[in-house]
Amino acid sequence: MSEKATLKIDGKSFEFDVITGSENEKCIDIQKLRSETGYITMDPGLGNTGSCYSSITYVDGAKGILKYRGYPIEELAEKTVFTETAYLILYGELPTETQLQEFSYRIREQAPIHTNLEHHFSGFPQNAPPMAILSAMLNLVSCFHPEVLEVPTTGAEFDRTAALLMSKVRTIAAFAYRMASGKPINHPNPNLTYCGNFLHMMFSDPYHQYEVSPVIDKALNLFLILHADHEQNCSTSTVRVVGSSRANLFSSVAAGVCALWGPLHGGANAAVINMLGAIKASGRPLTYYLSRAKDKDDPFRLMGFGHRIYKNFDPRSLILKKQVHDVLQALNLEDGLLEIAMELEEATLQDDYFISRNLYPNVDFYSGILLRALGIPLNMYTVMFAIGRMPGWIANWQELHDHKLRISRPRQIFTGETERPFIPLSAR
Ligand code: SDX
Repeated sequence: MSEKATLKIDGKSFEFDVITGSENEKCIDIQKLRSETGYITMDPGLGNTGSCYSSITYVDGAKGILKYRGYPIEELAEKTVFTETAYLILYGELPTETQLQEFSYRIREQAPIHTNLEHHFSGFPQNAPPMAILSAMLNLVSCFHPEVLEVPTTGAEFDRTAALLMSKVRTIAAFAYRMASGKPINHPNPNLTYCGNFLHMMFSDPYHQYEVSPVIDKALNLFLILHADHEQNCSTSTVRVVGSSRANLFSSVAAGVCALWGPLHGGANAAVINMLGAIKASGRPLTYYLSRAKDKDDPFRLMGFGHRIYKNFDPRSLILKKQVHDVLQALNLEDGLLEIAMELEEATLQDDYFISRNLYPNVDFYSGILLRALGIPLNMYTVMFAIGRMPGWIANWQELHDHKLRISRPRQIFTGETERPFIPLSAR
């Protein structure tokens, strides 16, 4: 007998199925709630509402567990490169040597962008936000590849389109940086790895090919792996909502870029650096900032702290914190912001406001310091997050189509005026 949940309304009982996931998570299937009771649920921010069944990523916020397709993030971060983890997220299995070579080849062959597409970069003002450029250009790419607008969710066409997006997002990001800096663009070099090619496109100059150090290559792979997916976060849910209208994959991920841009989501990594820089420049004690973060009348928040799901440490922040130390030491660099970040983290661990609300550092708290060490400019931080998240967005868009696709269309409770007599303009 399947487990049931009973709802009592006006003395009448209604039964709903309880569904148990593979990690023993429980949900109440309320698909017939409105038709049987006339009631809807209300859950602003959707913190208690499941939107889908998914087999891609599992997060246990209480225990600080993150797994892609059943593999712990700690193992993937240590033992794989980004394209290997991206393959796992897209196809559900770690690739064989041959599969990884074929996947890498598909990505490599898609790295260049159409010459006409390159010209669009000159249409943006020099100080255009790279996230605006990224979202616009991802949509534009589909104009040059009409054959993938109706991409199926399986088979060779999907393989090609997934690789195309993973590759072009990297090229567009690097081109946006070069154009904004007034520097000549570097075309992709097919002899380089995924991360090596990105760093080349970002930092090579006409007379000096950027030399990719193993430390930086490993750190960039780790950064992208840690950002590759995170179940139904704001931007991934956006990709699903847009995809649910049967919009194509390009417009769906372009919408995901826009959702990621916000400072409460992917924009937090740059906001953390701005916050740490302001703290350092002010010379004020950390207690000043902690009290502002706790003051409900003060809009100041500790950026990089807190999470809708993690009520324990975000496992990614633990990995990033160690990686920051390793990279700074290996490159013989120092970053005063790291000391401030660690002191801030330590202070919150002693403060009941943060302890009682389970506010710990999230993925964005240390990621910005790592990007600084890699020489990535601040206005590109959220773009880096988008490059990492691309396989997760594509896999969720694909999974959406694997199941019975229904357009996302939430309900509301109306609280406005009810009956109002029309008053003609002459009488208003
Ligand atoms: C990402 O969802 C994902 O998976 C996202 C992500 C991914 O991989 O896709 O993990 C990536 O977006 C990480 C989050 C990056 N954002 C930030 O670092 C911005 C700062 N954090 C907060 O704005 C906030 O913690 C959120 C947005 C992350 C979560 O917001 P919630 O779940 O809506 O929590 P809330 O605002 O309801 O906060 C609960 C309480 C409130 O206090 P009370 O009303 O109970 O008194 O905690 C307080 C909040 O005021 N609080 C904070 C705080 N975060 C929450 N107080 C001070 N500083 C903070 N950062």
